[in-house]
Amino acid sequence: MKDEKTSSASPHALPPLPYADNALSPVISTNTMGFHYGKHHKGYVDNLNKLIAGTEFADLPLEGIITGTAGKADNTAIFNNAAQTWNHTFYWRSLDPKGGGTPPEVLHQKIKASFGSLEACKQELATAATTQFGSGWAWLALDGDKLKVVKTSNADSPLTKGMKPLLTIDVWEHAYYLDYQNRRADYLNAVLDKLVNWAFAAGNLT
Ligand SMILES: [Fe+2]
Repeated sequence: MKDEKTSSASPHALPPLPYADNALSPVISTNTMGFHYGKHHKGYVDNLNKLIAGTEFADLPLEGIITGTAGKADNTAIFNNAAQTWNHTFYWRSLDPKGGGTPPEVLHQKIKASFGSLEACKQELATAATTQFGSGWAWLALDGDKLKVVKTSNADSPLTKGMKPLLTIDVWEHAYYLDYQNRRADYLNAVLDKLVNWAFAAGNLT
């Protein structure tokens, strides 16, 4: 344990949103952003800081906490809050007010090689997201040299499976219920058509 005054301070901060809280409207409303970012995401960060204080995880970076607690029954609460903190920061960056459209060429080529077409990739993401039972996430991830669509339950992510996440879509009800109620597919189709940040995903290839 480091003997530094800062080690007892809250080590993890809620990152600022990469855009204004009304920038994703009407696909994702300002009201949803207020709860999702301001309450849920912030809550995970606050809980994480409380849970790790004074533990072996207090000085680790977020990714180290996630991989160090994954699958360990004694550390489930720390894992859940660390992974949800990471997942949400990654989700906000996976969206862009000017998103949708066609991916940068380097990613587009890889998508065509792995799925046949962009439409097939989007369809696979939508299917994974709609068939994820209960809370979870749909991801585009790099597994070795191949792109894959992956769905995870609750807080889990491809990081715990040795894969590199490229983008994610939150399919917890808190992500869409205020705007779409139980119509998860409508939320997904709108996000995939209008908000998905292919440039961010392409940047994560390297
Ligand atoms: Fe969420």
